[in-house]
Amino acid sequence: MSVQSPEQVPRTTGAAAKVSVAQVLVYELRVRDAMSKPPITAAPTDSLRKIQHLMKQHKFSGVPITPNGNLVGLISIEDIITALDHGYINDPAEKHMTTNLVTLRDHYSLLRAVAEFDRHGFGRFPVLDTSDRLVGMITRGDITTCLMHHLEKRAEEALAHEAALLAARQADEEAHRVVIRAPVRTGDYDSAGKISQRMRQVLRERAIDPEIRRRAAVVAYEAETNIIIHSLGGEIIVTIDPDKVVIEAVDVGPGIENVEQAMQEGWSTAGRLPRELGFGAGMGLPNIKRCSDHLDIQTSSEHGTRLRSEIRLRTAKETA
Ligand SMILES: Nc1ncnc2c1ncn2[C@@H]1O[C@H](COP(=O)(O)OP(=O)(O)OP(=O)(O)O)[C@@H](O)[C@H]1O
Ligand SMILES: [Mg+2]
Repeated sequence: MSVQSPEQVPRTTGAAAKVSVAQVLVYELRVRDAMSKPPITAAPTDSLRKIQHLMKQHKFSGVPITPNGNLVGLISIEDIITALDHGYINDPAEKHMTTNLVTLRDHYSLLRAVAEFDRHGFGRFPVLDTSDRLVGMITRGDITTCLMHHLEKRAEEALAHEAALLAARQADEEAHRVVIRAPVRTGDYDSAGKISQRMRQVLRERAIDPEIRRRAAVVAYEAETNIIIHSLGGEIIVTIDPDKVVIEAVDVGPGIENVEQAMQEGWSTAGRLPRELGFGAGMGLPNIKRCSDHLDIQTSSEHGTRLRSEIRLRTAKETA
């Protein structure tokens, strides 16, 4: 394993260096966080055979020898193999243990521990506390496992944080959301424009750019009059959020036969009465399209027409 300390990370000119989560972790985590504890130990008089069984039982590759908790030596799996080869597996540990030991302190950072593994090439280190008591054993595998565990924990925390932010944003959006919903009846020319008026009031209160207010008003008015003139009735739903207004016009039929044609300027199937009232220039849908940032029209003879227009909002201050 090779890691860079945060100070060793190359810096880009001017910008702060990017330090990965793993690099921060090896710096923050201590040997005591990763070591196995309490240590499984043996007495100096214990036979190598007994230690071999201990290793097998606990799946350790090194057993510290500690009379009264003080570290005096270490028997490694390599020592056991040599003892088996040379036929002295029943000898006491003290006769063959390594006594010239390199140890780590439990308060060392994992960064330092990794450096010690690299420097000495050992498979394991006994870990001592500040009073020189043996408190654990550590291998490279222990460091990897500890890092993986904490990386997973950090990832989970980051996800939870993101979800909380999203929920807060949604709650904030909902708190600032205004929905205007009103039924629209066929032939009710007198009511035309009422929904648009209520919407404009909210947009004015929010100091939305007058040009954007005008565009929203055109969409709401034209969509409403289309329901009055051409449909069997429906409703308008205006949803005002801090960043956008969505105008939906839903009716129960008879649907638009040819949307492409209906979108052309001057195309109209309006009858005599609406024309006498000043409608029927065939400009409604083209105007809606021009004024929307996003427009979607779903229509069929069975399900009627559903128009959805979205307009992004900016305050007059933002526009200036
Ligand atoms: N909700 C609807 N249901 C059925 N047909 C519709 C609907 N909306 C529009 N149409 C059809 O599309 C045509 C074009 O609509 P558009 O709004 O552009 O013009 P118009 O309503 O006829 O006239 P203007 O809007 O200028 O008063 C309409 O004449 C009508 O045939
Ligand atoms: Mg129209």
